[in-house]
Amino acid sequence: MTPSAEQNAPWYDADIERVILSSDQIAEKTAELAKQIDADYAGTDGLLLVGLFKGAVMFMADLARALTLPLEMEFMDLSSYGSKATSSGVVRVLKDLDTDIKDRHVLVVEDIVDSGLTLSWLLKYLPSRHPASVEVVSMVRKPKALESNVPVKYVGFDVPDEFVVGYGMDFAERYRELPFVGVLKPRVYENA
Ligand code: IMP
Repeated sequence: MTPSAEQNAPWYDADIERVILSSDQIAEKTAELAKQIDADYAGTDGLLLVGLFKGAVMFMADLARALTLPLEMEFMDLSSYGSKATSSGVVRVLKDLDTDIKDRHVLVVEDIVDSGLTLSWLLKYLPSRHPASVEVVSMVRKPKALESNVPVKYVGFDVPDEFVVGYGMDFAERYRELPFVGVLKPRVYENA
């Protein structure tokens, strides 16, 4: 690499082992998902997107702009505690919805579903507020989510059981801003 190319390379390039989903693939898939969602909710009074902090922020922003339905956007912040090995982990609501979802069509927007623990809890919690419907869209799904049978209606990509970063997803709060989804070099974890 020439010195000028090095200067222009984003800081994170040196930490990435490989890219799993390029920004073009993500954009293409987002457009595809939006088309399907637009069609499925045609004839309704629109959608209430509920994004989960912080990971879903990028996908939420891109999906919202790709949809042509009337939209409102809400965010929730949930944190899971307890044993990930059981299906009864404790979920704490750090930020709840700011709006009444009664009779609204709710679409939960996730970056990635792994164990599905947080989502399973949310899918029990939201119906207690009497929405017209609740569905889930996730840009990425890991194999464990399939085993847990958590109902994710719209899935962007199924990825292998590896820790991924980028497009909203972090390692120790870093790498969320990467425009692609990738796997970190082992030395990044080793030095953490
Ligand atoms: P679940 O409750 O196990 O499905 O976990 C979902 C949440 O864990 C996601 O919304 C992410 O914030 C985080 N997560 C799970 N897998 C990964 C990963 O590979 N990279 C980054 N974050 C992840």
